[in-house]
Amino acid sequence: MQICDTIAGVRQAIRDLRARDSNSSLGVVPTMGALHAGHMSLVDRARRENPIVAASIFVNPLQFGPNEDLAKYPRTFADDCAQLERAGVDLLFAPTPDEMYAESATTTVDPGPVATRLDGASRPGHFIGVATVVAKLFHIIQPDRAYFGQKDAAQLAVLRQMARALNFPLELIACPIVRDDDGLALSSRNRYLSPEERAQALILPRTLDGIAQRIAAGERNAAVLLAAGQAFLQQQPQAVLDYLVIVDPNSLLPVPEAVPGSLIAIAARVGTTRLIDNFLIA
Ligand code: PAJ
Repeated sequence: MQICDTIAGVRQAIRDLRARDSNSSLGVVPTMGALHAGHMSLVDRARRENPIVAASIFVNPLQFGPNEDLAKYPRTFADDCAQLERAGVDLLFAPTPDEMYAESATTTVDPGPVATRLDGASRPGHFIGVATVVAKLFHIIQPDRAYFGQKDAAQLAVLRQMARALNFPLELIACPIVRDDDGLALSSRNRYLSPEERAQALILPRTLDGIAQRIAAGERNAAVLLAAGQAFLQQQPQAVLDYLVIVDPNSLLPVPEAVPGSLIAIAARVGTTRLIDNFLIA
């Protein structure tokens, strides 16, 4: 695996890889590192679907708010490299903030109203930071396919909107949520949780399961389903709810009825850690 920390370097490396076979597709997996099995499921899928696979590791300052965890965000670069190497990644782009934002971050990408919903409402500016860095990565790497996790459902909606609106010639691939055996969605932020908080965090997937069961039993009314979910959540007073919503997965706007394809999403704080989870109605 080749590792590049400059934009010029990664562009040259991609030219070289593509020169070997001009017809072969390139898949990219953007990440912020601290890699776990969720990230690696994206890498494995990219590996199966493309002769050339690139990954990026960049803890993007632009998507962190002033009171968020930028400084303490987990950084495990050597271990990340070993995992990516084992998974057969061809190229890793791991720039410094100075390299990515040499011209400062005064030019940004605003995806519009969708970026102000769900996590975009709780974390103002977050999705402008995400859209900006992903647009830059797309321009630098010029992938044919880009792999993102369904875990970050609002991020997916924002990036689909951005890719459509800015005519990026690539396919966005959404990959299923990878969970621990007990149901908690894997997240780099899970390592902040104390053992007690780790147990309390299970209220997120359990609340979603409770709603899924009611849907399976025939309930479709979003207000009824959300009320049941909120009641369920109260069993774990340590979890502070940010949002619990039933929305259209593209616009992120609320829907009155939970129909196939609707997104049920939750965000809650356990201790100081903000966790998210969701599922799409089958
Ligand atoms: P990060 O949180 O590192 O996640 C990188 C990718 O892994 C995202 O597409 C995310 O949805 C996916 N992912 C994380 N946990 C997952 C899980 N349990 N199952 C499946 N996929 C999972 O998301 C970001 O980084 C950044 O915002 C980024 C897109 C890289 C832009 O900076």
